[in-house]
Amino acid sequence: MSAFAEPTETDVIPLEQVHVDQFTLWRNGQSPVARAWIERSDFKARAGQNVWLPDDTGLPKRLAIGWNGRNDLSTLGDLPWKLPEGTYAADADFDEGALIGFGLGAYKFTRYKSNDRKPARLVIHDAALRSRVESVVEACCLARDLINTGADDLLPSALAAQVLATGAKLGATVEITTGDALLTKGYRTIHAVGRAADDPPCLIDLRWGDPAAPRLTIVGKGVCFDSGGLDLKPASGMRTMKKDMGGAAIALGLAQLIMTRRLPVRLRLLIPAVENAISGNAYRPGDVIRTYAGTTVEIDNTDAEGRLVLCDAMALAIEENPDLMIDFATLTGAARSAVGAEISAMFATKDQTAEQLYSAGVKADDPVWRLPLHAPYEDMLRSSVADIVNSPSSPYGGAITAALFLKKFVGDTEWVHFDTMAFNTRTRPGRPEGGEAMGLRAVFTYLQDRYAASA
Ligand code: BES
Ligand code: ZN
Ligand code: ZN
Repeated sequence: MSAFAEPTETDVIPLEQVHVDQFTLWRNGQSPVARAWIERSDFKARAGQNVWLPDDTGLPKRLAIGWNGRNDLSTLGDLPWKLPEGTYAADADFDEGALIGFGLGAYKFTRYKSNDRKPARLVIHDAALRSRVESVVEACCLARDLINTGADDLLPSALAAQVLATGAKLGATVEITTGDALLTKGYRTIHAVGRAADDPPCLIDLRWGDPAAPRLTIVGKGVCFDSGGLDLKPASGMRTMKKDMGGAAIALGLAQLIMTRRLPVRLRLLIPAVENAISGNAYRPGDVIRTYAGTTVEIDNTDAEGRLVLCDAMALAIEENPDLMIDFATLTGAARSAVGAEISAMFATKDQTAEQLYSAGVKADDPVWRLPLHAPYEDMLRSSVADIVNSPSSPYGGAITAALFLKKFVGDTEWVHFDTMAFNTRTRPGRPEGGEAMGLRAVFTYLQDRYAASA
């Protein structure tokens, strides 16, 4: 059920947002009984505070919430679980960004554990605003659900089924290439990484929209579980690796949003989906793989698998010369060392796009920070037996060298790469611990502006 309600709903609780700077004025306008409650509750209209106010008979009638003037995920993001169950309505609609925070804050992952209460709900009066907010929230929560799902329930075939379902709902076509068919078509890196798993690797290819519109291609790393392969991860590093398809989940959520809001683009979504597993036919350190693009890659480390599955998908993508290619990937631990778990590292071939994406991230309260595609570090990708190596021997700049590896498969296409955590390590308002669609809202905000002119 949506966290939002239509204005026709009955039995709603009046809600009032009180700006902290207007507190004294507001309090002086209340009845003596209400003023007593405000005082006893120590309500000063600070962000995060709320107070019930009585009707003439002294019963709780309406709720006042404090506000610091900001409209971001924190504004209403903790209300759905902080307020008692019920439907709340303010006189005027809240800001769109604050409403998105409410919707995202109402999320719970219920696949394996039911919930003993429902979130509080909020009326949005303006139907167009309600529809926009719900589309964004649903897209983010689709990504969250997929990331939170255990790998056993979301192996490549299940991820493909998810894309098929989303595509069918929104009128897209989906083509899936699975198992040995990957070799026939030349996607040898995707096959190599995924071939040791029982659930075979696949490449998911969704298309939607007017073929004459600008081509936008989104690529997502779909490593459904990353054991590290023969370069096995230690237990502590493997523990969270069900989220290694986070890039694919964010890409699918973004694709759903683009289709729902009918952005004037020709959309293509490419997801190489694999499990990086171990068995007798696992790919090995020292193997050399000829990629779809023809470049040979020496495997130094089977745990640097994300760039391998992405490089074939990206080489395929640029064949049709898209206007813009964006990829999302939980690619490196180094990106987390650089910008932490709560900011997505961004790489871009065009400065203006990077700057506008940064601003879109600020506007959407979905922070991204640019790291450089520093060309001299390409030396670190040198191999003595192949064109490049998948994992440099240097311990430094790992997010940058991973991005430079991908850049070899991008040609002249304008490209943006997000190396993201896709997971909230702690709960904050609007951001519950668990899978998170990091970068999705920043990119959608940017794309709306970029393609608005061609609408
Ligand atoms: N999926 C991991 C990266 C990762 C780790 C993302 C932890 C988020 C949190 C990726 O496949 C990986 O293992 N990368 C290696 C690359 C190295 C072997 C060059 C890494 O970052 O250590
Ligand atoms: Zn890995
Ligand atoms: Zn990985």
